[in-house]
Amino acid sequence: MYRSPERDRADDRRTDRGARTSDRRNRTEGHVIDCDGTRAVISAIMPADSSVSDDYWNVGSLITIASGPARTVGMLYRIEVPDAAWRKAAPNTVHIHVELVGEIREDEGGAARFAGGLSHYPHLGAVAHRIRNADLQAIFANTDPTAVALGRLSQSRDIEAMVSIDAMISRHFAVVGTTGVGKSTTVSLLIRKIVAARPDIGILLLDPHNEFASAFPDIAVTIDDSTLDLPFWLFRLDEFVEVLFRGRPADPEEVDILRDLIPEARLRFKGDMAGGPMRKPGRNNQVTADTPIPYRVADLLALIKERMGSLDAREHRTTLKSLASRIEAAVNDPRYRFMFAHKTITDNLAEVLAHIYRVPARGRPVTIFQLNGIPSEVVNAVVSVLCRVAFELSVWSRSKVKTLVLCEEAHRYIPADREAGFGPTRASIARIAKEGRKYGVSLGIITQRPSELDATILSQCNTIFAMRLGNDSDQDIIRRAITGASRSYINFLPSLANREAIAFGQGVNTPMRMIVETVDTAGVPGQAGDDPHQERTDAAGPVDMHGLLQAVREPVLAAADALGEPLESWSTLGVVGEQRPSLADAPTLQGSVDGPVDGAPPPGGREGLFTYDGPLRRNAEGGGRSGRTQQPNDAPQGARDLISRFRRADRD
Ligand SMILES: Nc1ncnc2c1ncn2[C@@H]1O[C@H](COP(=O)(O)OP(=O)(O)OP(=O)(O)O)[C@@H](O)[C@H]1O
Ligand SMILES: [Mg+2]
Repeated sequence: MYRSPERDRADDRRTDRGARTSDRRNRTEGHVIDCDGTRAVISAIMPADSSVSDDYWNVGSLITIASGPARTVGMLYRIEVPDAAWRKAAPNTVHIHVELVGEIREDEGGAARFAGGLSHYPHLGAVAHRIRNADLQAIFANTDPTAVALGRLSQSRDIEAMVSIDAMISRHFAVVGTTGVGKSTTVSLLIRKIVAARPDIGILLLDPHNEFASAFPDIAVTIDDSTLDLPFWLFRLDEFVEVLFRGRPADPEEVDILRDLIPEARLRFKGDMAGGPMRKPGRNNQVTADTPIPYRVADLLALIKERMGSLDAREHRTTLKSLASRIEAAVNDPRYRFMFAHKTITDNLAEVLAHIYRVPARGRPVTIFQLNGIPSEVVNAVVSVLCRVAFELSVWSRSKVKTLVLCEEAHRYIPADREAGFGPTRASIARIAKEGRKYGVSLGIITQRPSELDATILSQCNTIFAMRLGNDSDQDIIRRAITGASRSYINFLPSLANREAIAFGQGVNTPMRMIVETVDTAGVPGQAGDDPHQERTDAAGPVDMHGLLQAVREPVLAAADALGEPLESWSTLGVVGEQRPSLADAPTLQGSVDGPVDGAPPPGGREGLFTYDGPLRRNAEGGGRSGRTQQPNDAPQGARDLISRFRRADRD
């Protein structure tokens, strides 16, 4: 219920005056009649004219109980008339049920200080009354240097709802709530606050509905299916297999052949390599099917052919043939161009990583990864690669590359049903959840169905913003996540307003019911239209069947057509902010992809581990890039070292 500050102050004055007159005291005070370790019941008398006092005993608000040297703070979760009858013209006795959440003491200077937990329980008959504003301030004061206001308390709107960014990020967080309550908008607000408080952290936002690009035109780089460059050789074997088999169960024989041949293809790669040349394979630097060293599909196919020709492979010939045609089908599928677009294979690992993980950030520390457009059967594999590499980068850069992975609709990738979803995606997200804190990789989970999300991942999220949740099983999950006193907050979950959240966990001093700050329309995800080139067309009017069918059959061509652009330039569609060079032009890509951003300040704390002017890789076929012939040795030691560590990760 909204209370203006003036009204609060007036009430405070009234409470103080009321303490002097027994008549007034009855209106505002109650007395403890029951107390166990965590809860208490207060009996109070509401006068016949209850209009003054009705605000005082209100479900959801905090009250204090005078108890020796401290004031015990209780959260009011239930109120009742014990004899279940309301007398209109006479005073009524009411019972007020509170959960004891902590206590307030005064320090030497007389300032109120709040601490969770109780050193002291209220005695029977102890006086309870509505909390003073100064005490409320003390409860929610947050002295953490990275604390930011995310909104205001529902109980008292002149008190800011403070969240400690560091504590929230380092131990992962979740935003849950039913559809339309404001999760994505809260996330966009959080992103702004995080970028301001921690410019050294890169944010990778997995955006399944392509709705965030318009919210951050100034601080984000948007990558969509036409601008994504995730070379196939960066995929681990299981991820590559997921792509080849398009999400269906793989043929184990074909996987075995790939496991044998991909390392051989990798060893055949003769191009320059960032991070220094490969050492000869030995005991400690075995090249495996997972080692992120480039290889050519042509080499892999040639190896398969060679094997077909060998005598002992007669019985495997069908398997080998099927594998070869499977690979060819993937390479020729225009929807998979984000993996296979490069005509020539070069080692652009440094560029790819620098672009996606924003090292250096150059004023745009956020990467919005638009997943709607990436073929649904391979989205899992792509998410797996992105999350896995985020973790590995932080490990091998010794925490210099810090990344926050924000996973919208997380239940899609890490479902509660262990049989569903893609194992490696689950594993890479779980790894961030379990070990990320040690290396500076964090996770933010956003979901409308917490009960459909892997419970172990949610249990690693130590700060939760729970918005309205109607479903019992979803509420149960959150109930289990709340520890200690404050479980009663769960009762409010079904009745929270839009934009209202209960925040609890490491990121906040004490659980709080809050209203998220108003985000202006431009900052609300999905509001301004995602494609800056395209005007929003009126939803009314006849459907253009021809265009619709074309879009269904050839989404990219249709989009280019709709913009009246020549088809060659499709690769720049949907790019917001920083323009990514067209994949078709990739072989002529010059140096770093991190071109300067107009007017953007130099990066805050994020170091330029990857970006240096060159060396420009010559491709394996000897054609490739022209230009400067700087040696790989010119790269800063950090970048070379990191890339080579990254490559050796699974061999050490
Ligand atoms: N903090 C806010 N400031 C301004 N408007 C808001 C805020 N939160 C929510 N809204 C409004 O509510 C609408 C729905 O919010 P939002 O898209 O964030 O919900 P959601 O929980 O992410 O929904 P879904 O589950 O469908 O993704 C927004 O379009 C916006 O108009
Ligand atoms: Mg949303």
